[in-house]
Amino acid sequence: MSYATADQGTIRRTRVIRTFGAMSQLTAPPPTRPAAAGGTTLDHVRPAAASLRSVVKTSGVGDRAVRALDDVSISFEVGAFTAIMGPSGSGKSTLLNVLAGLDRVDDGMVEIGGVDIGELNDRDLTRLRRRRLGFVFQSFNLMPALSAHENIVLPKQLDRAAVDADELTGLVERLGLSERLGHRPGELSGGQQQRVAVARALLGKPDLVVCDEPTGALDSTSGAEVLSALRTATTERHQTVVMVTHDPAAAAYADRVVIVRDGRITHLLDTPTVDSIVAFIADDAHADVSTSETAVWS
Ligand SMILES: Nc1ncnc2c1ncn2[C@@H]1O[C@H](COP(=O)(O)OP(=O)(O)OP(=O)(O)O)[C@@H](O)[C@H]1O
Ligand SMILES: [Mg+2]
Repeated sequence: MSYATADQGTIRRTRVIRTFGAMSQLTAPPPTRPAAAGGTTLDHVRPAAASLRSVVKTSGVGDRAVRALDDVSISFEVGAFTAIMGPSGSGKSTLLNVLAGLDRVDDGMVEIGGVDIGELNDRDLTRLRRRRLGFVFQSFNLMPALSAHENIVLPKQLDRAAVDADELTGLVERLGLSERLGHRPGELSGGQQQRVAVARALLGKPDLVVCDEPTGALDSTSGAEVLSALRTATTERHQTVVMVTHDPAAAAYADRVVIVRDGRITHLLDTPTVDSIVAFIADDAHADVSTSETAVWS
């Protein structure tokens, strides 16, 4: 298994071998992505859709304050599909929330499309979120009194933005929702509701789509439809997707997996497969046994 380690802002690609919790690192790995002209890797030529730089975020107050993100730096390339995994409470949702401007950071910087969102007032941040970001949550977050169609176009209406009818038709067809547009969420299955949420997130082609356990409440067939739609958004529409998941099968749709632990990014798994992710998690469990820590990955 080949993956990368990351610590405190500087991310180095290395080949890592773990044996019962002991980790030895060998240097000078081969590049894991194709080299571009001039010998540089695509990592260096593809622009970032969003990035965190030295981000610190504390959650809770007083005795209960937790450093949910502890000096996190990472870039998300345009058109890349990234999965974020890690034990429960490791900071995955916090990372996603600060990346999407839903929470402000205590220290460090968050950039979306080259804009330092810490510099924006609340009104401009809301506008940027509406125009450049799409959101998908485990709990769907649909308006129960509105039809599927009304839910999908609602953010555009709130932004007084025009809806591209051809794009909407293409999205609902691809997501298998054409016959369900007049239904309210209560009249739809969980999978159909989540596909409505995905159509809402993708409509208008936002640069960055963030998803927090989008398949967590779905059966495997519905989950696969949602994941395929997210995958297509990156490969055909060059949108950037960042998805938190506990499921190795979901994470294997991504171009890379970012491992978060105790508020820090500890590993990057390039071109992940279900097997390589499962093997990593099993190794991590061995590491926990040796340090008497308990990590719950799901
Ligand atoms: N509102 C809050 N008040 C206090 N602590 C919080 C709050 N929100 C999150 N935390 C703490 O911050 C840390 C990171 O939480 P976060 O929700 O980001 O974890 P997670 O990796 O998404 O976990 P899970 O897999 O269970 O969803 C945890 O220790 C959590 O208890
Ligand atoms: Mg979470």
